[in-house]
Amino acid sequence: MNPKYAAITAVAGWVPEHKLTNKDLEKMVDTSDEWITTRTGIKERRILNDETKGTSVLAINAVKALLNKANLNGEEVDLIICATSTPDMGFISTANLVGEAIGTRAMSFDVSAACSGFIYALEMGSNFIKSGNYKKVVIVGADKMSSVIDYKDRNSCILFGDGAAAVLLEPDEEYGVVDSLMYSDGSGKELLNVKRGSAFPYSEEQVMGEHHYFHQDGKSVFKHAVTNMSSAAAKIMEQNELTADDVAYLVPHQANLRIIDATAKRMGVGSEKVCINIEKYGNTTGATIPLCLWDFEKDFKKGDNIILAAFGGGFTWGSVYLKWAYDTK
Ligand code: ACO
Repeated sequence: MNPKYAAITAVAGWVPEHKLTNKDLEKMVDTSDEWITTRTGIKERRILNDETKGTSVLAINAVKALLNKANLNGEEVDLIICATSTPDMGFISTANLVGEAIGTRAMSFDVSAACSGFIYALEMGSNFIKSGNYKKVVIVGADKMSSVIDYKDRNSCILFGDGAAAVLLEPDEEYGVVDSLMYSDGSGKELLNVKRGSAFPYSEEQVMGEHHYFHQDGKSVFKHAVTNMSSAAAKIMEQNELTADDVAYLVPHQANLRIIDATAKRMGVGSEKVCINIEKYGNTTGATIPLCLWDFEKDFKKGDNIILAAFGGGFTWGSVYLKWAYDTK
């Protein structure tokens, strides 16, 4: 019989040591700690300050920490899915590099869904487990956002940081991913993007025009994010007949504190149940949700109903309802 659920049985994260604070940014662009704090909730972010090192360094460190915590060898892993929008290279995938580093020849691939990458990957990993053919699946969210940011653009450079975090998924009959809702709408492509790739080959014009950096129409994206992330989270509660009292924690994508507050409000969930670490890391794209799971793991109890919700480039968005599988001793 196939397993009923895929449960998260361990979580670990890794962030670089170097901190880029709001005060540091005041010296780089026309901004202020006050503006950044009130408009976004961010105080500092971590930066992988080495141009020769890519996202795989973040992902490998997070996955090694995960295996160490779960007392596993790399060879025991059946599948690695890496959610990233800043892969080390066009191909091969960042997940391949993680596999090599931990010593497994298991299937590995990347998922590209911007800030929804981790929940997309979790949905996939959960279905691989439920097929009955995979017993230990590693999902890692990792992004070196500093590699695509223009540090002369105050609209975007204040928002992002670098980081990675990973979860282990295993079969379970009682706990795990109960339900999920995933969406995409490619019509958001001009509002939020990084124009690098086959349609935007490297050229002098591309680089000199600074078209290869992250671009966002913040105001428009903000409206889409509030509407779609909160709708997905409210809908998953409704279709699973969960009241706000039934929800132990909301773990939202960390792009902007105001988007998080709007989502919690729509769900009717009090602020004491909302997991927030945006002040420490900023928006780490594919890594925000697992980094939050890592930071709040000690508070979660076996059987807690947890709602994950994300919104990102594409557009992509969605929500996951999971029953937490363990107590942290
Ligand atoms: N410091 C000071 N002033 C600034 C800064 C800054 N760092 N950045 C912008 N401003 C100014 C603008 O120039 C503008 O000035 P003006 O009115 O004179 O033109 C004013 O502040 C207001 O700018 P807005 O862009 O309207 O500011 P807003 O309140 O919308 O906040 C933000 C901007 C934080 C980007 C917000 O719109 C947001 O969070 N958007 C959604 C982000 C998101 O969820 N993205 C999806 C995930 S990312 C991914 O998928 C990779």
